[in-house]
Amino acid sequence: MFETSEAGANVNMDQLKRQAAARALEEVRDGMQLGLGTGSTAKHFVELLGERVAAGLKVIGVPTSEATRLDATRCGVPLTTLDEIDHLDITIDGADEIDAELNLIKGGGGALLREKIVAAASDRMIVIADDTKWVPTLGKFPLPIEVIPFGLGATRRAIEKAFAECGVSGQMAVRKAKGGDKDGHVFVTDGGHWIVDAQLGQIGDPARLASALSAIPGVVEHGLFIGLASSAVLAGGEGIRVIERRKPKGD
Ligand code: A5P
Repeated sequence: MFETSEAGANVNMDQLKRQAAARALEEVRDGMQLGLGTGSTAKHFVELLGERVAAGLKVIGVPTSEATRLDATRCGVPLTTLDEIDHLDITIDGADEIDAELNLIKGGGGALLREKIVAAASDRMIVIADDTKWVPTLGKFPLPIEVIPFGLGATRRAIEKAFAECGVSGQMAVRKAKGGDKDGHVFVTDGGHWIVDAQLGQIGDPARLASALSAIPGVVEHGLFIGLASSAVLAGGEGIRVIERRKPKGD
């Protein structure tokens, strides 16, 4: 499906992100329980949702990070937790890379663990992005792998072995925090873990790599989202493209 929009050739990236967020907001109905993503694109969605809530829309959200919790609170979006409700209707979240099967790399902002828990608890996941995130093959964006600090050496060796078995290789680096008083220190996730970013270049079989990484004890979670996204809303200079996943969620 291809939709035109008012987007001209000169719109900037931030406008494109907002347009994608606005298109996804059209899917939201009164009474829905929503997963609220993390990152600059998801932040646009939370702001636009806040405007609709102020105008009378009744929804409740589960934030995927402390940053999104603060944004949603500031925007007046009522919040709950996955302990208080039993499912979510839609999660709306950004991504770092999206391929034609709607497999994703996520976690550039470090929220991949909560993002995956929330997406997995949702009937649908709509990915919102500017169209530079659309790639033929995942892997140019460094793959975030959330790890337990204890035994990191052993975990890194196990990750390297998994890479070799899956036909990929590349440098790994423990993520450092950027800005503020934590600048240069190790980046710590909302769950208290660390992130190793892996420069793989190309991931030929993302599903196989996802399984191999998930089997490593020191790996808490990784940024490969396989079979979770139901659709992607991509905003570019030519307009908005909505791509639906061919297979139902869970297949
Ligand atoms: C957060 O951990 C990430 O998964 C983000 O969803 C992803 O990095 C996209 O962020 P932007 O919308 O800021 O590009």
